[in-house]
Amino acid sequence: MLLLEHESKKLLEGYGINTARCIFAEKEDDAVKAAISLGFPVAMKVASREITHKSNVGGVILEVKDEKEVRDAFRRLIRIKHAEGVNVQPMLERGIEVIVGATENEQFGSILMFGLGGVFVEAIRDISMRLIPITRRDAEEMIKETKVYGILKGYRGFKGDLEALIELLLKVSRIVEREDIAEMDLNPVFVYEKGYAVADARIVKGRKRKGAGGETRETIERKIERIGEILNPRSVAVIGASNQPLKVGYMVLKSLSTNPELKIYPINPNLEEIEGLKLKVHPSIESVKADLAIVAVPADKVIEVVKDCIGRVKGVLIISSGFKEADERGKVLQNELAKIAQENEIKIIGPNTFGIVNVRSSINASFTPMFSKLRKGSIALVSQSGGMCHYFMQNFIEDVGFSYILHLGNRCDVDFPEVLRFLKEDRNTKVVALYIEGVEKGRELFEAVSELSEIKPVVVLKAGKSKMADVVSRSHTGSLAGDYGVFISAMKQANAIVVETPLELLDVSKALERIGGKENKKESKIDDCSDDVGAVIATVQAGLGFTCLDIFEERGGNLAKLSDETIKRLHELLPPITMRDNPIDLSFSVLNLDAFREVLKTLSNDSCVGLIVFLLAVSPSWTLPHEIILDILREVSKPMVIVYSSTPDDFRELRVKAESLGIPTYPTIERGARVAARLLSYMFP
Ligand code: COA
Repeated sequence: MLLLEHESKKLLEGYGINTARCIFAEKEDDAVKAAISLGFPVAMKVASREITHKSNVGGVILEVKDEKEVRDAFRRLIRIKHAEGVNVQPMLERGIEVIVGATENEQFGSILMFGLGGVFVEAIRDISMRLIPITRRDAEEMIKETKVYGILKGYRGFKGDLEALIELLLKVSRIVEREDIAEMDLNPVFVYEKGYAVADARIVKGRKRKGAGGETRETIERKIERIGEILNPRSVAVIGASNQPLKVGYMVLKSLSTNPELKIYPINPNLEEIEGLKLKVHPSIESVKADLAIVAVPADKVIEVVKDCIGRVKGVLIISSGFKEADERGKVLQNELAKIAQENEIKIIGPNTFGIVNVRSSINASFTPMFSKLRKGSIALVSQSGGMCHYFMQNFIEDVGFSYILHLGNRCDVDFPEVLRFLKEDRNTKVVALYIEGVEKGRELFEAVSELSEIKPVVVLKAGKSKMADVVSRSHTGSLAGDYGVFISAMKQANAIVVETPLELLDVSKALERIGGKENKKESKIDDCSDDVGAVIATVQAGLGFTCLDIFEERGGNLAKLSDETIKRLHELLPPITMRDNPIDLSFSVLNLDAFREVLKTLSNDSCVGLIVFLLAVSPSWTLPHEIILDILREVSKPMVIVYSSTPDDFRELRVKAESLGIPTYPTIERGARVAARLLSYMFP
């Protein structure tokens, strides 16, 4: 139910929020009395439960100066369709106009929104969001993410009370948490040099959607244990095993066979042996006990097959498609699978997945044998798309090392939250990379990412940015809080690193795997920095440095202000033709081993330098001896990113060596600069 403005403001005032006092008048004489009691001039607004945007229907009259004008205004306002009365309130001094709102999101529950306010709020879209409840840090970040922050600090005669605004956001979060509020728009709120006032308020009461999953610790732990067992199987049955090389039932066996230690049980009533792979075939699962069963039979046979698996395997991975993604019949089948998993001690991954790969243990439980060639490393990729897993594999097979590649498919049972909880405990995983298209249990995902990001970095790529936001929603906040925006805000709030492209997902993950995430901050000796910690760009060719800086800053990267001592030393070390501030042009001095070493040492000692980006484009006739560079890099104590443009073989050689020293390398400026910006804001927020 929509509250009238005076009812909304009463509720807000009950929580200590400052509003422009508002008197509701059903009759003209009452409006006059109200105006006299408040003192002229006053503002008058139509009161209606049906009208969302009062100014759009001529429902707001400002600067009403005397009794005659009150009577005129009242008559105009009460004639507006659906008018229930008129609200009279004092004219507020104009301040910085902001909007504070709350709305309900199907996946994430209650959302708080903040941004530049006023009638153009939808057009400007300068907003930030967080899931309710928020912390003080969330409130601060929300304000800093918008242009409001700059205005509050001083803009064309305006200045605003940051502290009061933080308090307001915290109070609104508290109200929405405690009361049954489905939607709230405080727009505009005028922020002054001291304090603020809510000029207009619109609240819709209603039952809130449920929040987190509410599972007990015991249930969660049992699930984690089960996930561990099926992701590290010692024995695997393949139901739908085939002798035909192009069939999924054959490809899976081929993938699994790369691990000679794994016990493999092909299941097919019509076969005796898998030719070429020398595997004995079992007529049914009944004669077998295994950790995992992989199902590769058509969708209409899957339910029966999974039922046969109960009591014989710990988990089932269903490759078959033709479920929720296909049609109504598929949805029914998928619901049945979910029920089987809930009612029995069996976990189900999929359906509609290409499989899972435990790279560390060389278990390729997928229909793509090529995944057996992945490099062992510490990045776990959890993906909602099998296609994207293949894309990543093709493009990063040489460059990145994985612990797991997990495609969860339609997620009838095993979903992101429990997999993330498993990965949190997994010693082989240092960084978790997520590719997500859409989720149903948003709150649970938020909580799982929050818990995981406390222990290891989580990098997230969400597809669907271009999808139209929910523009048909009734409130400002509702129409501004599109699904992509809410998801990204939730991930930021959970301290995940949000990236924008597939390349960035693995480039940033690799950097964190090499550098070691936030713990590396301790090595960075930044405690004495009285300014913001930033990056230093050191380049052998000036052009590379300038281009890098553009991309780095565009992604929000902050360049370190070098200390006077550092600048002085750089002037001693480098000839006058070069740039000797940040960016630093080393030019041919890079060939002078001692000078190069000293430059990097000087930068490492500057407490405001959090990260060093080193760029170098090598011409084929001018190859640098890697050993010289590596020798110097070994002594650098700060996190570093290298952009090295060279022939593929030359680059590969340097990459392998530099990365073994914990320094991620990239062949292009774009990639290195974006990674540097993300790393910096993650390590030194
Ligand atoms: N137990 C054991 N084996 C069985 C069986 C059962 N209950 N029922 C059938 N089989 C056997 C078949 O006889 C066949 O063996 P054969 O090759 O010796 O004849 C084998 O299992 C496969 O069955 P078939 O009917 O030939 O299916 P298929 O191989 O053509 O297709 C799927 C099966 C699962 C691959 C297909 O239905 C499918 O879903 N493909 C899409 C998969 C996909 O894209 N997943 C998502 C990726 S992101």
